[in-house]
Amino acid sequence: MELGDLTVTQILLTVVGGMLIYLIIKWLKDPIRKIPGPRGLPFLGNVLALNPTNVHNQFYELAKKFGAVMKVKVFTVPIVVLNSREACMEALIKTGTDFQGRPPLARVFRIIPKDVGFTTMNSDHSFLRRTFTKTMKAYGPGVAHLEGIMQDTIQEMTEEINRRGDQVINTADLCSGYVGCVIASMMFGEKYSFDDEVCQMLHKMNKQLIAAADPFTAGALFDFFPFLLKFKFLFPKTQQTLEDANQVFNDFVKTKTEQFRDSYDPNDKRGCLDYFIEIQQKELDKDGKPLLDNEGMKGLLLDFISGGLETSQNSLRQMLLDLVADLTLQKDLQAEIDSQFEPTHKITLKDREKLPQLESYMLESLRYLSQTPFLVPHMTIRDTGVAGYKIPANTIVLMNSFYLAHNPDVYEKPFTVEPKRFLDEDGNLLKSDHPLRENFIGFGAGRRQCPGELFAKSRIFLFLSNILQKYNVEPAGELPDHDVRKYPMSILLATPSAKVRLTRRQH
Ligand code: HEM
Repeated sequence: MELGDLTVTQILLTVVGGMLIYLIIKWLKDPIRKIPGPRGLPFLGNVLALNPTNVHNQFYELAKKFGAVMKVKVFTVPIVVLNSREACMEALIKTGTDFQGRPPLARVFRIIPKDVGFTTMNSDHSFLRRTFTKTMKAYGPGVAHLEGIMQDTIQEMTEEINRRGDQVINTADLCSGYVGCVIASMMFGEKYSFDDEVCQMLHKMNKQLIAAADPFTAGALFDFFPFLLKFKFLFPKTQQTLEDANQVFNDFVKTKTEQFRDSYDPNDKRGCLDYFIEIQQKELDKDGKPLLDNEGMKGLLLDFISGGLETSQNSLRQMLLDLVADLTLQKDLQAEIDSQFEPTHKITLKDREKLPQLESYMLESLRYLSQTPFLVPHMTIRDTGVAGYKIPANTIVLMNSFYLAHNPDVYEKPFTVEPKRFLDEDGNLLKSDHPLRENFIGFGAGRRQCPGELFAKSRIFLFLSNILQKYNVEPAGELPDHDVRKYPMSILLATPSAKVRLTRRQH
């Protein structure tokens, strides 16, 4: 039969049939198909069954049903979720860089084209991450200059609390005040007060970043279809928010870097920004251009905000809530501090090892909260595999840290705060390779592990130990529900603010 003899219907049937055969072959060949997971609908996947604000609980239940590796589908996009420590460690460490990409976030890239946290694994990322970690180490916990500033910050915090007298304090305000000063000092090496303009700016930029990265707003459509950002009439409010954020970030970074470049002294580095300036001046490519360009500098400075601000404040809010929800816990921790130090002793990082119970409690609170329940999303950068399953390149992979941290086979009473969970029979802190400690992966592991972990833990220690030594923290009114399963999931699992009173302890 010649082509001219075919009817339109026959041509259409041939085309549709061909497409169907193509789709079936593609489906049969798709290795993700073999990964177990909840049944979804064609084209919609599991989207109707997933509740974004409750997804930590939903994935917890699914993990119990499907085991170490599972998948869900958001529309046609598969997301692989790893639910066992072995599978997570295989992906994060054993497979090298295979799983170390990040899904592209068009809205964030519009304001931060390159940085450590959001950029996928490439040479830019490796250089920026090396720079960030080197600087954190050079200027991290234990550096005398920073310790001095930290003592001043603690002093500022206690003065602020004393000024409030017996007024009610919102834990959110206290924690954001302290963390703002701490992060600003790390970046710029100066002492700040709670209401300092720089700290206010950090909080403002943090809010703008969260709005830009929030996966649960209509603007998230841009992340799936980046070309839509070109059409200015689409979601004009989101587009305006991004423009405003970009302007604010650029102005802040420009002002600060100019100010610091003008007064830069290689023999007297004030904070991380001075280290970045040194690297920008000294590390050049073969054409003599700085390896750290201004965009990279902007990304690094914003990494302190995107990585450090929200996570640290949230941990502290949770700890203050634990203390007022369980006054026995508070008394026990105070008794340990009182048994080691005079009331006038200034607690510093050197004192950490003398307070194993406090250390155990801090780890327990971090475990209980597991505020980044799936870490930060990873993405495969090449065809690879985990736990015997093949995973193609460019697949989004989540580590179910929330399930690991509350796995009932590992932790007794996983949804209770047990302050002594990480102590052995002699009251010593369990070693870091103990299964109870190893199963908590809330800071990640491997090449994208949180570079701020040591810093964060040491600042939490200083905050808690100083508050407990000097004050009783009491509830001032009804406490919010502090069951982590009831916290809504957004950019992280956010602990609600509580109203408390801090009264000077009479020793
Ligand atoms: C309690 C406090 C904190 C928690 C729970 C936390 C948790 C995390 C987690 C889960 C990740 C992702 C790991 C992964 O994707 O595998 C991460 C990455 C990161 N964190 Fe933290 N973090 C905290 C504090 C900080 C602080 C204080 C800083 C900076 C001063 C910081 C800077 C970063 C950066 C830059 C990244 C991106 C690393 C990369 O993608 O290569 N974090 N953090």
